Amino acid sequence: MKILLLGSGGREHALAWKMLQSNLCHKLFVAPGNAGTAQIATNIQVNPNDFKEVKEAVLAHSINMVVVGPEDPLVRGIVDFFKSDNQISHIPVIGPSMKGAQLEGSKDFAKEFLFKHNIPTAAYQSFTKDTIEEGKIFLKTLTAPYVLKADGLAAGKGVVILEDIKEAEAELENMLVDAKFGDASSKVVIEEFLSGIELSCFVLTDGKSYKILPTAKDYKRIGEGDKGLNTGGMGAVSPVPFATDDFMKKVEERIVIPTVEGIKKDQLDYKGFVFIGLIKVGEDPYVIEYNVRMGDPETEVVMPRIKSDLVEIFQALANETLGEKDLEIDEHSATTVMLVSGGYPEAYEKGKVINGLKEINSDSIVFHAGTTEKGGEIVTSGGRVLAVTSYGKTFEEALKKSYQNIDKISFDKIFYRKDIGFDL
Ligand SMILES: Nc1ncnc2c1ncn2[C@@H]1O[C@H](COP(=O)(O)OP(=O)(O)OP(=O)(O)O)[C@@H](O)[C@H]1O
Ligand SMILES: [Mg+2]
Repeated sequence: MKILLLGSGGREHALAWKMLQSNLCHKLFVAPGNAGTAQIATNIQVNPNDFKEVKEAVLAHSINMVVVGPEDPLVRGIVDFFKSDNQISHIPVIGPSMKGAQLEGSKDFAKEFLFKHNIPTAAYQSFTKDTIEEGKIFLKTLTAPYVLKADGLAAGKGVVILEDIKEAEAELENMLVDAKFGDASSKVVIEEFLSGIELSCFVLTDGKSYKILPTAKDYKRIGEGDKGLNTGGMGAVSPVPFATDDFMKKVEERIVIPTVEGIKKDQLDYKGFVFIGLIKVGEDPYVIEYNVRMGDPETEVVMPRIKSDLVEIFQALANETLGEKDLEIDEHSATTVMLVSGGYPEAYEKGKVINGLKEINSDSIVFHAGTTEKGGEIVTSGGRVLAVTSYGKTFEEALKKSYQNIDKISFDKIFYRKDIGFDL
């Protein structure tokens, strides 16, 4: 089978690495990919959001399956695009339909879904420009801190949490009236603040059955001790030590099963990953958010722990036979540490030569995120540059291996967190 994977980050390198272990995968193309995917697959210069370009590539390379890494093409309806074009309608696209992708594309849609299907989540109300005064009244019924969310996709920046009610009211104006996040904040969800520790649960569904993938915890802040600005993610650990069997039983019964049944009842036409952002409040799980794709850097610890053939599982998604498959998980811990460009998540320089990649020993796998090849050398091309993943009997042992190998890697203004897993 020839497979086309869309995307260019560490997530896609990890997905590519995993799919290439399958005997079913005879050739893998990545669009547009990075210097890491170029070493194991064939990169093609196709924009994942330009569906006509994607279609041309699929026909030109006789692709049999498309796997979508990022959310954008899904929210824009790539699955529906394929289904409605009879030249390519027979080719499975791993990911939800445009309607299903609304679980990530619209916070309001997701909250409505959660309440409709009785899935535990924070209380909320949604407001537009016309109901801004009601929004301010709703804020007064809550206690600080105040959680305001732009309804639409805002590249991970659309959630604002404020301590002061006056600031929260001003932020609401900012989002609704001054269009702080453009169209994405033409509707705003205001939520009750939940206090607890977060983790992510990943599910694969064919719209009928489901498989729960390994849990992961990511580290979003740039600074040690979870301080400073938000990033795409600075590291991750799997499994999550506090996600005990008891806790995961609650997650499955109260959240995963009603989510999959909700997808079926609401006919969301969903064949792909469901990323459930959870918070553990006391001993109970609540949903913070849904995403409709894998997380990055969580993929870099989740994929290494899947023993089963991922391509076979993807085929089962397409054929709606997931229920017949077993998913085998590696008992080891996996951790990843993200190496980033100095200055990230604010302004940073690109084009720095990366040294030491050849010295990495077999204790670690280096997944490329923001890299490209230039004049025979691998150089930085993004804020997040490399994810260094290792296995261990414990997450501490895995982390030690990652940090030992990271010592061999260098590029100008390299930065990484030395405290991944500090809170576990
Ligand atoms: N109701 C809440 N109570 C407490 N914290 C919250 C709440 N909602 C969101 N947060 C915090 O804000 C973060 C971002 O929220 P959310 O996951 O909804 O936004 P997002 O922009 O879709 O994130 P991502 O980029 O990870 O997909 C959460 O990880 C959590 O730390
Ligand atoms: Mg999200």
